[in-house]
Amino acid sequence: MKKGIILTVIFLILTIWFIHQRETFGASPVENYKWYCAQCHGLNGKGDGPNATKEQPVTPRDHTDTKGMSKLTDADIENVIRDGGNATGKSTMMPPWGKTMTDAEIKDLVKYLRQLCKC
Ligand code: HEC
Repeated sequence: MKKGIILTVIFLILTIWFIHQRETFGASPVENYKWYCAQCHGLNGKGDGPNATKEQPVTPRDHTDTKGMSKLTDADIENVIRDGGNATGKSTMMPPWGKTMTDAEIKDLVKYLRQLCKC
């Protein structure tokens, strides 16, 4: 009987902790990238997602392009993710994500992009 109560309490604590950490830290950068970015930038970040066609005036940035990506500062990347291409003098094809993701999630994505470009 006592064991059952203890197990229930542990289970409740774990559930609350899990919900709390998801709300605080959001989804992982890999999840967010697959969900929001891969349609254009490609699953592996090469700028070859299904929405990237040759007919478009610009192609999505290849996030594995070390040379090109290293020209951008972390702040540049953060701004373009948060405010989109239109607000940063880039193509309007790049949507703003500031209302979709938290600042922490965007900062994590910047770190993830740095891994992709190895820069
Ligand atoms: C609808 C297609 C689309 C989606 C979805 C998209 N992008 Fe883009 N992105 C683009 C295009 C097109 C460009 C190229 C803009 C240019 O060079 O003018 C771009 C450029 C960028 C750049 C480079 C900006 C620069 O200064 O060169 C970064 C970084 C970026 N995207 C990150 C992301 C991230 C992170 C996500 C997901 C949260 C995302 N993008 C989702 C289309 C998209």
